[in-house]
Amino acid sequence: MKLMIIWGSTRQGRKGGVVAKWVKDEAAKDSRFEVDFVDLREPNLPFFDEPTSPFSMKSLNDYTHPEGRAWAERVEKADAVIVVTPEYNHGPPGVLKNALDWVGKPWIDKPLGLISYGGIAGGARAVEQLRAITTELGLIQVATPLHFPYFEKAFDANGQPERSDYYSENLKKMLNEITRLQAAFSRGEPAS
Ligand SMILES: Cc1cc2nc3c(=O)[nH]c(=O)nc-3n(C[C@H](O)[C@H](O)[C@H](O)COP(=O)(O)O)c2cc1C
Repeated sequence: MKLMIIWGSTRQGRKGGVVAKWVKDEAAKDSRFEVDFVDLREPNLPFFDEPTSPFSMKSLNDYTHPEGRAWAERVEKADAVIVVTPEYNHGPPGVLKNALDWVGKPWIDKPLGLISYGGIAGGARAVEQLRAITTELGLIQVATPLHFPYFEKAFDANGQPERSDYYSENLKKMLNEITRLQAAFSRGEPAS
């Protein structure tokens, strides 16, 4: 299945690439998934600016901004989503919320895994806010998130986290649950 992995930081000097890359590389090793990695710098979305709410659009042709339409088309192609987010002021970065707001119906019924990084709480508060936001978007939550506390010190020179067995095992559980939910919310067959 097509798994979109969205990394939620775009700022200058961002540090979380080590987490995002680890998630991307681990997921890519799993033959069930074809990974579409989204660095949110690429879609280069303006602040949401459509005259019509994406959920009220009759089709993706209703976008007035080509960047928004291209982003919605990319989301539409995905079967499932993982978001890798930092925590800014106990929430997700505005740039990530903006990217979520740009799309409507294409989010519906896609399983969603949430992964965060930060200081002592490992970004857990950003994940809790994202749960509320993404439930409203119609995404289907995987129950158990992954958190990386003090992430800047937690990765070695090879890009592996401390307690890598723990994280690999829990990412595998997340990927298994994504596969199960995708089957449950589609025609009953996992997407190939
Ligand atoms: C605007 C801002 C707010 C932050 N707020 C939090 C926070 O609430 N909790 C936390 O654990 N870290 C917080 N941090 C520290 C981040 O965890 C750290 O800067 C991290 O590198 C951010 O991810 P990024 O570098 O990939 O953007 C904040 C950083 C910034 C820039």
